[in-house]
Amino acid sequence: MHTTMEPTERPALALLAGSDEGAAALARLAVAEDWKFTTAATPARALRALRGDGAPDVVLVAPGGGCLTPWTELCRTVKFDRRSSHTVVLFLLPPDQGDRCGDVLNAGADDCTSAAAPPHEFIARVAKALRARDVGAFADDADTVIAALANAIEGKDHYTCGHVERVGAYAVQIGRAAGVDFRGLAALKVGGVVHDIGKIGIPDQILNKPGRLTDEEMAVMRRHPVIGYDILKSLRSFADVLPIVRWHHERPNGTGYPDGLRGDQVPLLARITAVADVFDALTTDRPYRKALPTDRCRAILSESAAAGDLDDRLVATLLRIIDDGADAMAAGIVTAPAA
Ligand SMILES: [Fe+2]
Ligand SMILES: [Fe+2]
Repeated sequence: MHTTMEPTERPALALLAGSDEGAAALARLAVAEDWKFTTAATPARALRALRGDGAPDVVLVAPGGGCLTPWTELCRTVKFDRRSSHTVVLFLLPPDQGDRCGDVLNAGADDCTSAAAPPHEFIARVAKALRARDVGAFADDADTVIAALANAIEGKDHYTCGHVERVGAYAVQIGRAAGVDFRGLAALKVGGVVHDIGKIGIPDQILNKPGRLTDEEMAVMRRHPVIGYDILKSLRSFADVLPIVRWHHERPNGTGYPDGLRGDQVPLLARITAVADVFDALTTDRPYRKALPTDRCRAILSESAAAGDLDDRLVATLLRIIDDGADAMAAGIVTAPAA
């Protein structure tokens, strides 16, 4: 992850990759711009430079007149490996290979231009790619902050240690068994972590009250899905997660909150998270009772499904997962959560 405090519009260290006239052109450009740089004449050497200490943050590839494929493969390797995917990669193609720009971009390159273009255009493209990288790093940092915030809020609630991580893990297992696609599974994982983030707005004496809440206190507690929704609604990377945060206390029979949705009006991911949330509540100690034995949990889940408090098909899916004794979920039922 990019760690400097100031926005960067020039490479900290550029790797000039290419041979012959292409590399020479890049070197002239780097010298003129006073960039710190190193060079690699082959894709293999470039990859070694990227894997070593003090790796460059920008790779400028000028393949020259030779075969382009080894260089696009290098780009693919760099951009699809999590360790180096943040490295900016730009291609400077010979004028007669300008039609290969699509191949280069498909290999994950941040940008591509012709060697016939004026040097200041290439420099501007480098700066633009660096700005985009910094914005991406900022978004990653924002996600990390939100996850940390969600865990900090969980710390306010003395009885739910590890709850949010477990809800995410259970929801992913139910989702996978229910045929949810990859993007949905990712939302379930994050949704588990942040589903109760709105509890930041709930006073500690209500959150940690031993015993039943009064009607008034319950009304305050029931604000947490909308508070959480309002916290996250302007963050683009949480768009898929918002329905989970807002509607994880809705019920198929329409008696849930905050919007009183019914049946399939409650989005699938929110219904899945609701089942995972209840399951974790039953299998862990709460302010008002100890964790319940597995048979009792099964019975309560079945009763809830029959009453329309939980989605009956998803409860059936969860019960099937529990029945698969070798499944990690079953281990989760009998293993005390990590403190
Ligand atoms: Fe909640
Ligand atoms: Fe919860």
